[in-house]
Amino acid sequence: MKEIQLVKPEKVKEEAYQAYIREWQSAEEEIIPHASIPKSKKFEEQVENWRREELGLGIPEGWVSGSLFFLINRAEKVLGAVHIRHELTETLFQRGGHIGYGIRPDERKKGYATEILKLSLREARELGINDVLITCDDDNPGSYKTIESNGGVRDPQDAEENGVLVRRYWIR
Ligand SMILES: CC(C)(COP(=O)(O)OP(=O)(O)OC[C@H]1O[C@@H](n2cnc3c(N)ncnc32)[C@H](O)[C@@H]1OP(=O)(O)O)[C@@H](O)C(=O)NCCC(=O)NCCS
Repeated sequence: MKEIQLVKPEKVKEEAYQAYIREWQSAEEEIIPHASIPKSKKFEEQVENWRREELGLGIPEGWVSGSLFFLINRAEKVLGAVHIRHELTETLFQRGGHIGYGIRPDERKKGYATEILKLSLREARELGINDVLITCDDDNPGSYKTIESNGGVRDPQDAEENGVLVRRYWIR
């Protein structure tokens, strides 16, 4: 097994997923990506929800299908997650983009975001997304450095959300 790898939800141990959720909650942070937040009490049901969402089944009107992956280490600890949207809507084109990721609070500043994005770009290519849009708040240097070190080129047109400037990057 590699040091770290990106896996589909069905390859994640339930206890490792619960520990990931508990860590975000104990840090009192909003879990990013939102797609990794549990919506069903039973883990098997949740995994099924993610599988259906990837196929575009049961998603709200106006939403697009997306694939969720978790970053795990050799001990199968869940370090973070990434959600790859298969297409852009008008809203996602402005903010949100194709790829949203997060690293659990107790595993940050170890280079994992840089790695999760690198691995996600391969998955995006597999999904046929060649021009990848990633957005991030201007006050989130950890995220924009991650995007820039993965070759992100800033679009001259920024966006805005709740009074915060949103940077928009393309990786082609
Ligand atoms: C942003 C986030 C993903 C960064 O994760 P990470 O694993 O700590 O990032 P890395 O260790 O790969 O660091 C990437 C770069 O950002 C820098 N960095 C990380 N956190 C930083 C911070 N809080 N302030 C300034 N720079 C930071 C690192 O030094 C590194 O810089 P370098 O490439 O020049 O060495 C993580 O803080 C997180 O999950 N935040 C909440 C969710 C979120 O904001 N997601 C992004 C949405 S667009």
